[in-house]
Amino acid sequence: MQHFTTVYDVKDPLQLINEAIDLKSSPYSFSNLGKNKTLGLIFLNPSLRTRLSTQKAAKMLGMEVLMMNMDKETWAIEWNDDFVMNGSTVEHIKDAAAVLGSYCDIIGIRCFPSLTDKKLDYTEKLLVQLMKYCNVPVISLESATLHPLQSLADAITIKENWNSTYKPKVVLTWAPHIKALPQAVANSFSEWMTKMDVDLTITHPKGYELCEDFTKGTAIEYDQEKALQNADFVYVKNWSSYNDYGKTPQVNENWMMDLEKYKLTNMAGIMHCLPVRREVELSSKLIDHPNSLVQKQAANRVFAAQVVIKNLLTTLNFKQKNNVEQLETENV
Ligand code: CP
Repeated sequence: MQHFTTVYDVKDPLQLINEAIDLKSSPYSFSNLGKNKTLGLIFLNPSLRTRLSTQKAAKMLGMEVLMMNMDKETWAIEWNDDFVMNGSTVEHIKDAAAVLGSYCDIIGIRCFPSLTDKKLDYTEKLLVQLMKYCNVPVISLESATLHPLQSLADAITIKENWNSTYKPKVVLTWAPHIKALPQAVANSFSEWMTKMDVDLTITHPKGYELCEDFTKGTAIEYDQEKALQNADFVYVKNWSSYNDYGKTPQVNENWMMDLEKYKLTNMAGIMHCLPVRREVELSSKLIDHPNSLVQKQAANRVFAAQVVIKNLLTTLNFKQKNNVEQLETENV
């Protein structure tokens, strides 16, 4: 693995999921793999789980961790190339990223979308600029369009909580919210589920269609109750409109997942990536239900991050060993 920004960076997603599950039984078996290596974690947006789980994972692999809230704690960054910097931005990403790359062996970045400029967001401008200039492997800690560490943790959770022989029915349902949220978790979950042996249905009100690049081939059902019938897993998540970009078209029906709707399912595992607004997105009774998986998903964030960093470190160590051997051969 060279970077981790999408499921397509992973050669064999199912193998990665199994490797993460194996790591859970011996999380310190690779505690020397990251010795003398540094992980830089750059946040342009708030975080609880991603920040702490990735830090914990890196430390379990023996790494040092540097962390920075780049939105508040450093110079205002200019992300555009060929820009005359006579305004509010103080440092170009080309310079800042190169510095970060000289301090860190791997860099993680959280860079949410603007939700006002679809082109800027869906070309992943910030992530791409960092990758272009830092010269080290990059991990997405949630970008404008995807949240692959979350989806990997979700995939691990589904795998661990499914023992039957038939394909589970997984339903991703839109949920109400008081503000416009990114589409990243939903896009990413959809992308990862296509790599798993599951039947995915996405249900949302009209106007909340996701970008087809991520949902191609997935069943879309506008009737939430119909979608929930016999579901084995129900993933609850809000997102704003992709077509009317970043807007929140009015929804008159009740879309909050609650105990009444839960009765339609096959005693489904209830999932949410957190943070969750109780009684707005999801009823408290379901979050605290015996079949709720939300805390298991959050706990699995550590092992998702650990297996990703482990694979990136293995690639790095392999490249470094080869470089040393090549230099030695050249010097013979
Ligand atoms: N689920 C998730 O990414 O949580 P944080 O935003 O707290 O990191």
